[in-house]
Amino acid sequence: MADHNSWGFATRAIHAGQDPDPATGATIVPIYATSTYTQTAPGEHKGYEYSRSGNPTRTALETCLASLEGGEFGLAFASGLAASTAVLLTLRPGDEVLASADLYGGTFRLLERVFKPWGLRTRYTEDLTPVGFAQAMTPQTRLVWIESPTNPLLQVLDIAGIAEVAHRTGAKLAVDNTFASPALQQPLRLGADYVIHSTTKYLGGHSDVVGGAVIGAKALLEPVKFYQNAAGGTPGPFDCYLVLRGVKTLAVRMERHCANARVLADWLSHHPQVERVYYPGLPSFPGHEIARRQMRDFGGMISLRLKGGGAAARRFVTRTRLFSLAESLGGVESLVCHPATMTHASVPAEVRSARGVDEGLIRLSVGIEEVEDLRRDLVDALA
Ligand SMILES: Cc1ncc(COP(=O)(O)O)c(C=O)c1O
Repeated sequence: MADHNSWGFATRAIHAGQDPDPATGATIVPIYATSTYTQTAPGEHKGYEYSRSGNPTRTALETCLASLEGGEFGLAFASGLAASTAVLLTLRPGDEVLASADLYGGTFRLLERVFKPWGLRTRYTEDLTPVGFAQAMTPQTRLVWIESPTNPLLQVLDIAGIAEVAHRTGAKLAVDNTFASPALQQPLRLGADYVIHSTTKYLGGHSDVVGGAVIGAKALLEPVKFYQNAAGGTPGPFDCYLVLRGVKTLAVRMERHCANARVLADWLSHHPQVERVYYPGLPSFPGHEIARRQMRDFGGMISLRLKGGGAAARRFVTRTRLFSLAESLGGVESLVCHPATMTHASVPAEVRSARGVDEGLIRLSVGIEEVEDLRRDLVDALA
């Protein structure tokens, strides 16, 4: 296998783990549609026995994702939540997770409705500074779980600072890097222990596949790999191929996502009907300075509030035409979402509202269309 460590990011996205196929010379990694592998004698095989345990298309994806995150090892899963589940299963009943209060609704549901009955306690901190995390740590905290930027309020957390806090008491730090993608931010380099992805989003990039990944040091991921095989939440080879194909253009797509979002966030922040814009690239945004430090660019996600509150938000999300009203994010096409009734509906209303995810909040996933067309779509929806 070629040594990809000396390559730049865009080159690794296209080539890491993707050498020509050893059997045929196929330039693109084939979709190995096989559940099993013929052995020459009992226990003698070419590294693959059964496709839940390993599949060459999946290996290519896992190698590429590890390389993009600057990690030693990568594991692919059938969804982002399957990836999160495998990491959480390395903990034990009685252990504690400390999570940021602003979090994807499905992760909150997983922690509260699946892992809490199982015996894992999660505490949430509203203060997302390293000091806030330090104050919320207890001797039982084994894992700190954060997103940055967060879904949906796009708060930017000091990853290096929080890693230092977690490590002080021997806890690990897991960073869900779905919103930034490794093109903009590499949490392992900032001290994180696990990076989690919903590859459904920017990594896949075309809204045509659901998948997940965990990246980190090989020894730390050994138990996660065990659960990947033992519990079996693995992606099929066609899904791995789709993510791998998407990843090849990640670097250029992210440039355009960021450029479009920057224009729209700036324009929205001056619009008379807009009360507030949440975008880490705006110099006035509270997390801007941290984002400048730890991110290469500010991403393609924008949240906003209109002056007309919940009623205006509901009207707006049904009036856009290019921005489809849909869950998910990170694809080439623009999406608009009403988190309170969609992505965060699984968070109880009182908890959601207390955290600022109320009826008035709108979330945009800015695609890579012509920015002027996107702006006009928003103008029409606001009219
Ligand atoms: C930040 C974040 N993490 C994890 C997930 C879960 O990923 P999946 O839907 O692939 O299970 C999502 C899904 O929207 C997300 O936005």
